[in-house]
Amino acid sequence: MKSLFDPVQVGALHLSNRVVMAPLTRNRSPNAVPTALTAQYYAQRASAGLLITEATAISHQGQGYADVPGLYGSEQLAGWKRVTHAVHERGGRIVCQLWHVGRVSHVTLQPDGGKPVAPSAITARTKTFLIEDGGGSFVPTSEPRALDASELPGIVQDFRNAARHAIASAGFDGVEIHGANGYLLDQFLKTGANQRKDDYGGSIANRARLLLEVTRAVVEEIGAGRVGLRLSPVTPANDIVDADPQALFDYVVRQLAPLGLAYVHVVEGATGGPREVEGRPFDYDALRRAWREAGGKGAWMVNNGYDKALAQKALEHEADLVAFGRAFIANPDLVERLRANAPWNPWDSKTFYGGGEKGYTDYPTLK
Ligand code: FNR
Repeated sequence: MKSLFDPVQVGALHLSNRVVMAPLTRNRSPNAVPTALTAQYYAQRASAGLLITEATAISHQGQGYADVPGLYGSEQLAGWKRVTHAVHERGGRIVCQLWHVGRVSHVTLQPDGGKPVAPSAITARTKTFLIEDGGGSFVPTSEPRALDASELPGIVQDFRNAARHAIASAGFDGVEIHGANGYLLDQFLKTGANQRKDDYGGSIANRARLLLEVTRAVVEEIGAGRVGLRLSPVTPANDIVDADPQALFDYVVRQLAPLGLAYVHVVEGATGGPREVEGRPFDYDALRRAWREAGGKGAWMVNNGYDKALAQKALEHEADLVAFGRAFIANPDLVERLRANAPWNPWDSKTFYGGGEKGYTDYPTLK
């Protein structure tokens, strides 16, 4: 029987256990550069089998929030190098979540103050996070412009370049493509944000095209054994919705299966909210079966609202890895606490986004 504390081989990565730190945006990278404090934060959590970094922009255009890190400039890569070094010194493994926010952005964060880009010119009824005069605030996202099809190869190339730099310059063990939570790739996938009339809109095959092109490019660049993908079939995060998510994601995982990805990471339900979304039923077992039937051999990673009991149940029922988000913010030694059945420190949501050490590197360990 699988246990959370088993070592496991995931693609090219040997993990010391099945406990994963979920990607968590913390808005503590001024000028998009991770700092020494960032390195300390991740190193504190290196006993996880795998750390997935906070979402990291692949390009300036891919930026949508204040003080989130990037992976497209030499200072950013040097900042990440310090992080991966600190994690590796502690025996941890770390992959970088590759991010393009699409329409979830603000003109003040875009190159030359331009409009954010999207599959279609439909504004997301959601908020982004800006830091002005030292204080953070949530503000409505700006109206986007629809990408011209001629711009899409450039975005694929940005993902490819980011993956190469992640491995070759920043020292990551792999990357996770962010296909979840209503950001660019999810916007292309879903009918609520994609009303295109070209080869990237309309049918499921067309809406899945950009995600598949990006994934194939990244796999070609760094090898499938170092690539994971995050999906969130029914999350309403960032005002996203699809008319028929079961058919859409069944198609997506069947297409992905032959690529040999290290893992597929599924957010079950509303990200950070209920595991069942009203009016949006979804069969995750059927999704996993579709992936396996089509030859998917990588690990199946689950996330959203897990505690130890639910995680152990998921492992007994076909999951290979369990990602914990908020619990890892508040418990740097989460693996140890899970092992010892020790209580968790509660998280403080006021210090999730922005700020310094408080609520970042100062949560106590058991010892
Ligand atoms: C998140 N989440 C998230 N997801 C993602 O794919 N990339 C990201 O950068 C972030 N950032 C982020 C920041 C903060 C402060 C929170 C609380 C959440 C979602 C996260 O990875 C996870 O899916 C949810 O937190 C649900 O898992 P838990 O917390 O119930 O284990």
